[in-house]
Amino acid sequence: MAAYHFFAVCPRTLEPILAQELQSLGAQNIKVNAGGVLFEGPLSLAMNACLRSRYASRILLRIATRQYYDSHDIYDMAHVLPWERFFDVDAKIRVDITAHRSPLESLDFTTLRIKDGICDRFREGCGKRPSIEKNNPDVRIHAFINERYCTFYLNLSGEPLFKRGWRVEKGEAPLKENMAAGLLALSGWTPDQPLLDPFCGSGTIAIEAAQIACNMAPGLNRSFAFEKLNIFDLQEWQEMKEDAKAEINLHAPVQIRGSDISSIVVSKAQANAQRAGLQALLDDGRLVLTQGDARQVSAFSDKGFIVTNPPYGEQSNPKSATVASMMKNVADNLKKSFSGWTAWMLTSDRKLPSQMRLSESRKIVIFNGPLECRFFKFEMVKGSFRNKKADSETA
Ligand SMILES: C[S@@+](CC[C@H](N)C(=O)[O-])C[C@H]1O[C@@H](n2cnc3c(N)ncnc32)[C@H](O)[C@@H]1O
Repeated sequence: MAAYHFFAVCPRTLEPILAQELQSLGAQNIKVNAGGVLFEGPLSLAMNACLRSRYASRILLRIATRQYYDSHDIYDMAHVLPWERFFDVDAKIRVDITAHRSPLESLDFTTLRIKDGICDRFREGCGKRPSIEKNNPDVRIHAFINERYCTFYLNLSGEPLFKRGWRVEKGEAPLKENMAAGLLALSGWTPDQPLLDPFCGSGTIAIEAAQIACNMAPGLNRSFAFEKLNIFDLQEWQEMKEDAKAEINLHAPVQIRGSDISSIVVSKAQANAQRAGLQALLDDGRLVLTQGDARQVSAFSDKGFIVTNPPYGEQSNPKSATVASMMKNVADNLKKSFSGWTAWMLTSDRKLPSQMRLSESRKIVIFNGPLECRFFKFEMVKGSFRNKKADSETA
C-alpha cells in the first residue's frame, strides 16, 4: 500500500496528544512540529483520522516539496505536478498560501501563479481548465512557503475538523470543539469521573465529553474534501463509517453536567447536544445542561472534575472588575461545596488565581486561536488553600 506523507494541523500545545491519537490510529514516522504533526501511512489512515481525530483541525496530504528562487519556479512546480491524478478538470478549486520568511514580494501574485500553473496543465492536457471557487470549493490546495522551499498540500478534511456538524447554535466566545477535547485530555478527565462545566455556554466541553464517553467518532455527521478526490475509495469509506457507528455505546455510565447563567444559551446547548446524537443521555440525566449561576452551583458527587472557560476579563475591558469579583464568589463556592474536586480553568487572564484567592497546582500555556491563555489547575482540598508552589510547564 502506498505510503503518503500527511500533516495534521492542530492548536498549539495539543501537538503531543494529537501525535498519540494518530499513533493509536496506526500512523507511521510521526514527527511533532509546532502547530501540527507530520505522519505517514496509506490514504485510508488519513480518512480515518478525518473521521476520528478529536484534536486535529485539518489533515493535509503532501503533494511535493521543492526548492524555489522566485515565483517562476513556483509556477513551474504547480505546472509540472500531476494534479489530474487527484481531481478532474470540472472540480472547483481554491488555492491558499502561507508564507514564513519568504523573499517573494507578493503572495497574491504567487497565488495567482499557482492557479495559472495548475490551470495551464489541465488546458494543455484536455483543452479545459478547472474553475476557481472561493466559498465552496471541491478541492483546496495549500502552498506553504518558507525561505527556500515551497510545499504543496491537498486539504483532505475541507471544512476544519472542529466543525463536527452539531454546533449550529453558539453562545458568547464558544470554544472550538477540538480545543474542548484537548482541554479534557490535558486535564486528565476520563469518562468514569463526574464532570462539570459551570460556564458551559453552547455546551462544547460537555458535549465533547459525552461523545468521548459514548465512543462517538466526531466526524460521523459531516462530509470531507477527500470524498471529491479521484484517489478516494467509496467502499472503504463506507465500511470505515459503519465500523465507527457500530462502536458507539449510548449506554456509557457517565455523569456530565453543564450550566450557564443564561437560559437562552442553555437552550442552545441542549439543541446542540440533541444534534450531536446525545438525546438518550439527556433523557435519563447522564448529561444535564441547565440554567444556573456558577456562584451557587453545587457538587453532585464527592469528587470529580470541573473543566471550564469562564468569561475573560481583559484589563482593557470595563467588564473586567465585574468578572474579577464574580470569580472571587465562584471560588468561595468551589471552596465551600467542591472539596475533593479538581478544577481546570482556561482563561486569558493571568490574574485569575489571585482573583480567586487560590493557588494553582499546575498551569499550561495554550493558544486559543491567537489569544494566549492559561489552563489553570486547582485542587479543591478542604481547608487547604495555602500557597502551593505552582508546578508550571511554562511560565
Ligand atoms: C467564555 S463563555 C463559555 C463558552 C463555552 N465554553 C462554549 O464553548 O460555548 C462564558 C460563559 O459564561 C457564562 N456566564 C457568565 N457569568 C456566569 C455565571 N455567574 N454563572 C454561570 N455562567 C456564567 C456566559 O453566559 C458565557 O456563556
